[in-house]
Amino acid sequence: MAGSGDWMLAVVAFAAAAAVLLSEAEGLGVNWGTMASHPLPPRAVVRMLQDNGINKVKLFDADAGTMEALAGSGVEVMVAIPNNLLDLLTDYDAARDWVHENVSRYSFDGGVNIKYVAVGNEPFLSSLNGTFLNVTFPALQNIQRALYDAGHGDTIKATVPLNADVYNSPENMQVPSAGRFRPDIADLMTEIVQFLNQSGAPFTVNIYPFLSLYGNDNFPLDYAFFDGTTSPVVDTNGIQYTNVFDANFDTLVSALVAAGVGGLPIVVGEVGWPTDGDKNARVDLAQRFYAGLLRKLASNAGTPLRPNQYVEVYLFSLVDEDAKSVAPGNFERHWGILRYDGQPKYAMDLTGQGRNTALVAARGVAYLPRVWCVLNPRATPDAMSRIGDNVNYACTYADCTSLGYGSTCNGMDAAGNASYAFNAYFQVQNQVEESCGFQGLAVQTQQDPSTNACNFTIQIEPSAAAGRRPAVVAVTVATAVLVSVLAVMVTAP
Ligand SMILES: *[C@@H]1O[C@H](CO)[C@@H](O)[C@H](O)[C@H]1NC(C)=O
Ligand SMILES: *[C@@H]1O[C@H](CO)[C@@H](O)[C@H](O)[C@H]1NC(C)=O
Ligand SMILES: *[C@@H]1O[C@H](CO)[C@@H](O)[C@H](O)[C@H]1NC(C)=O
Ligand SMILES: *[C@@H]1O[C@H](CO)[C@@H](O)[C@H](O)[C@H]1NC(C)=O
Ligand SMILES: *[C@@H]1O[C@H](CO)[C@@H](O)[C@H](O)[C@H]1NC(C)=O
Ligand SMILES: *[C@@H]1O[C@H](CO)[C@@H](O)[C@H](O)[C@H]1NC(C)=O
Repeated sequence: MAGSGDWMLAVVAFAAAAAVLLSEAEGLGVNWGTMASHPLPPRAVVRMLQDNGINKVKLFDADAGTMEALAGSGVEVMVAIPNNLLDLLTDYDAARDWVHENVSRYSFDGGVNIKYVAVGNEPFLSSLNGTFLNVTFPALQNIQRALYDAGHGDTIKATVPLNADVYNSPENMQVPSAGRFRPDIADLMTEIVQFLNQSGAPFTVNIYPFLSLYGNDNFPLDYAFFDGTTSPVVDTNGIQYTNVFDANFDTLVSALVAAGVGGLPIVVGEVGWPTDGDKNARVDLAQRFYAGLLRKLASNAGTPLRPNQYVEVYLFSLVDEDAKSVAPGNFERHWGILRYDGQPKYAMDLTGQGRNTALVAARGVAYLPRVWCVLNPRATPDAMSRIGDNVNYACTYADCTSLGYGSTCNGMDAAGNASYAFNAYFQVQNQVEESCGFQGLAVQTQQDPSTNACNFTIQIEPSAAAGRRPAVVAVTVATAVLVSVLAVMVTAP
């Protein structure tokens, strides 16, 4: 017995080594979003991906500047169709045109290595009130058919990145083995997963341990990470879950089994941890989360219901985006594993070996001059009476999320808050002279007002790609953000 036991161990060790090699070949992906006032130049981003050995990227659109930068890079791409186009794509001809313009166009030697088309982005999120329930499946079917008709169907698969709230475990069970699709969309989800199964496409799901914690003060902190927990969940089948990522993933596996497609591949479309904008959105916790996640992924341990396998994962996200809606929370603009300017935030070893190493920063990034805009210490009492309105104005058009409760710049006095807000606005406006006025309240300075905890940033030069964006879109985003920031500021204690 002892002898055969040793032999078994040797086999297992060999299998594990082979799996590690496989995982390096298959590799990690990242999400590349561009909802920023000053997005990095696409070419700098692609080079940064390559410098870091990242060979898969998930996009939120099919922006031509982004796609041109990816051409010839070999990086595997998931291009995306925003939710607001789904309705249009219930018409097959529109789907055919979309594929022609956004897929076939890049399909040449030295073009873009497209692997997936994401049809919508979390279209069944409860907070979207069912707006996309009727259009997502027809759009998915049309896009996959159009991919086949254009000759890409065998290599490019259409999938729908879904939020994890499309499935759950009944209240009285709360264990992964009881996982089922949400009752209100169960029939639709069953049709969708059977279609994905037929077309050979994966199920794409976004899993956020951070949000489990954010939504619930009683959530055990350790259970969000991968280092073990004093409060594991013990399933009815005896399996012990020590982290919510595995539990969530296996809840989906159970839902797929119940829908008759237990073998459907699962891609984790988004997973990550933010670094500002909430008491748990911190650099040290993000570092801990990724260290555990990356170690787990590199080991190809899989999950209890899908053990010993590679899990395809796209980290969320590559860089901070200062123009994202803060409807989900102030942390929404701080998901980057790199800052807005492509500088790393903390130690991170993408190979999962836990080495104390940093990501390679974006190269050749040009910054605006080292000039800040702050509250004028000699502002008149009359001007000071208008400080609230001016701060609100600045925070409507620039990102003030770091000022909120639990954030890096929280706890400054009213003057510090005002300086932070004025500077954020001045940088977003590319430091044009008039943007540091604020009715006589503001003044430019070359002395860095940053503190150890709180960074008064200098923006980067606006990139050509940003210039090409329709101005109307930028204004709409800024307005939405503004309303949310105001709400946050108004309700702050
Ligand atoms: C191609 O994709 C872009 C970006 O998602 C979109 O604006 C455009 O309408 C698409 N083309 C067609 C023909 O649908
Ligand atoms: C969904 O409904 C709620 C409550 O009626 C509303 O506040 C919210 O704006 C709606 N969201 C969308 C995306 O329509
Ligand atoms: C979806 O279709 C159902 C049934 O036809 C209809 O009752 C519902 O209003 C539609 N929802 C939307 C958002 O269009
Ligand atoms: C669909 O699912 C069934 C059952 O899980 C499986 O046998 C079959 O291979 C799947 N089809 C594809 C194309 O993956
Ligand atoms: C500074 O701004 C934050 C965020 O709006 C707020 O919570 C805090 O009370 C402000 N501090 C002062 C002294 O006004
Ligand atoms: C603040 O930002 C600058 C560049 O924008 C960076 O060089 C510096 O390291 C940052 N400081 C902190 C404390 O994050």
